[in-house]
Amino acid sequence: MLAPSSPDVGAMRRRRPLISPITPVLGAEVAHIDLAARLDEACAADLRTGLNRYGLLVFRNQSAITRADQVAFAQLFGPLERSPLGEDADPDVVRIIHDATRPPTENIWHVDHSFREVPPRGAVLRAIEVPQAGGDTLFADMRAVFRRLPTEVRALLRDLQAIHDIAKWAPAERVDELHAAAPLVTHPALCRHPETGEETLFVNAAYTTGFVGIERSESVALLDFLLRHVNVPEVQCRLRWQAGTVAVWDNRALQHYAVGDYFPARRIMERASIAGSGRPIALAVPSEVCGRTRPASSRPPAGTAPDRNAGLRRAGRRAAH
Ligand code: SIN
Repeated sequence: MLAPSSPDVGAMRRRRPLISPITPVLGAEVAHIDLAARLDEACAADLRTGLNRYGLLVFRNQSAITRADQVAFAQLFGPLERSPLGEDADPDVVRIIHDATRPPTENIWHVDHSFREVPPRGAVLRAIEVPQAGGDTLFADMRAVFRRLPTEVRALLRDLQAIHDIAKWAPAERVDELHAAAPLVTHPALCRHPETGEETLFVNAAYTTGFVGIERSESVALLDFLLRHVNVPEVQCRLRWQAGTVAVWDNRALQHYAVGDYFPARRIMERASIAGSGRPIALAVPSEVCGRTRPASSRPPAGTAPDRNAGLRRAGRRAAH
């Protein structure tokens, strides 16, 4: 008779991730992964593929991990980006604390740092202390938003550049200082995901102020029309945190909103930011140039150049309703 063997912890740690979608559109929970262990390349590849597909991966019960583990995990997706707000002992990690004296500030739909020429690729966020109730984070899939846009609006946006401003909501006395740190930038309104080639809408409520070459009131109406799509529940998923939950998201495909309903209770998170690899890519750049082939069915038929102004007039009228 064979003696019962002790569990092979190494083999258990080498198990492949089990990825279960949260909604059919975005977000997935990942099981069978211990983020305190160094993950092998096959596992890392599964996670990168999962992140490209779902935009958000959630790992539960990871209370045992250290900041170094969090940093090593984030580095599976690319080099990290340091913030001046990083912890002295661990400069790759920013601690985000909100409580009665520091009210929540991330309760607006945003793409992290879209006001930079090269916005971050993504982030790994770890829940250290969560309120008894509330403090969820909402995510919206901007690829799904793109798919919901009327064809004429997509045609109109195809060549437009959106303006991103760090100081969009800042008090007047801080605008100059913020612009000295981060001058206005423009990004294509419609972008191509650099890895999957998918189309996304790249505007957000926190930082986008309008469009180059469009008169201000039309610009505001168009932006308002576009941003309303982010509020549609069918493009969203909601993450309920527990202490020890870790999430990684793709900042090129999603935007997010940290619900501030828990104030004045305390919520503490730690974030590692994954650096972007380049400026957002205009949709007008063929996917072949990004090394991806877009399905033929999603290409506009030859000879269907849009009447930009007609589309804008129609979109403006709709946005006004
Ligand atoms: C963030 O906006 O980057 C933080 C999100 C959160 O705290 O849930």
